[in-house]
Amino acid sequence: MPSLFDPIQLGDIHAANRIFMSPLTRGRSTDGHVPTEIMIDYYRQRASAGLIITEGTGVSQEGLGWPNAPGLWTEEQVEAWKPVTAAVHEAGGKIVAQIWHMGRLSRPDVIGMTPLSSSATRAPYHKEPNPYGEARAATLDDITRVQDDYATAARNAIRAGFDGVQLHGANGYLIDQFLRDGTNHRDDDYGGSPENRIRFMRESVARVADAIGAGRTGIRLSPNGETQGADDSDPASVFVPAAAALDALGIAFLELREQGPDGTFGKSDVPKLSPEIRKVFKGPLVLNQDYDGASAQADLDSGVADAIAFGRKYIANPDLVERLRQGAPLNQDDPKTWYSKGREGYTDYPALETQDA
Ligand SMILES: Cc1cc2nc3c(=O)[nH]c(=O)nc-3n(C[C@H](O)[C@H](O)[C@H](O)COP(=O)(O)O)c2cc1C
Repeated sequence: MPSLFDPIQLGDIHAANRIFMSPLTRGRSTDGHVPTEIMIDYYRQRASAGLIITEGTGVSQEGLGWPNAPGLWTEEQVEAWKPVTAAVHEAGGKIVAQIWHMGRLSRPDVIGMTPLSSSATRAPYHKEPNPYGEARAATLDDITRVQDDYATAARNAIRAGFDGVQLHGANGYLIDQFLRDGTNHRDDDYGGSPENRIRFMRESVARVADAIGAGRTGIRLSPNGETQGADDSDPASVFVPAAAALDALGIAFLELREQGPDGTFGKSDVPKLSPEIRKVFKGPLVLNQDYDGASAQADLDSGVADAIAFGRKYIANPDLVERLRQGAPLNQDDPKTWYSKGREGYTDYPALETQDA
């Protein structure tokens, strides 16, 4: 069985090791969703990851309801990403853009319009007042337009120097809103049966694969449990065939974010579906959530995963690969600076050499 430190081929992307950086929204872009200088340093510092998956990056203003998150739909955004990807490549790393349409989780006050979803629903919120608006159900024209936006953003990502893209199909965002029967109440070809609810994801991935190559296309799903109000009465019935459809498209990799019963960032008693998904998706399978070095290696050893993505540990440990190799202690991330402005809690987490000096 491979070690975490062994290389892996993801379609056309060669990753030097199996310790990946999971997508992490940090809100350090401009008000116009343009990447900033400090993002160059942040991603360069983390280039020893086998693969960096960027923070969620909007495919359109309609789909990006998070203030100061980056986008990939304007020339200014494409230009501003170029030094980021160049810095990661100069440091020997690989980087894909996580392309994002938030659907009903796009706040109307940020996007300046009514949000779009599979159906006319409103996402719940844990505090009042609820900033989410009532979404409108996507028309067939909307569906085509959003799929165009995914394909354009993917082409823009390649022009900006990315090694590929990951569609954000997880965490209750637009693709997830189509997949789950708790949020998808349509009675056309995009709703109802699992096959119909999978259609939007499958077509969107196919459009991106046509645009940039299946070997540069990945996707993230969060099959078990509820996230941000998106839930399904029988997750296995939709996510296992969804994974089989992705397998048929021959994509570069599938990443699953799975919350366990003791999760420290979302919990679920719904059993993890990765063992079932493993049987139908034959390409590289990346698993995420609550891993440390030992549990990551154990899941490689058992054969359930090909690589492991780390989120919060990558916020605080730019040299996570080296720390895991040495069994060195890890820095602890500070949630207060997850989405704050500037370098504090962003580019100032020390690497091992700095600490030893
Ligand atoms: C600050 C923060 C921002 C996040 N942003 C994203 C995101 O943009 N896209 C995404 O798919 N997941 C996002 N996540 C989820 C992480 O990628 C990951 O699934 C989660 O942190 C669990 O992994 P971990 O236990 O290794 O931290 C975010 C998590 C955190 C803590």
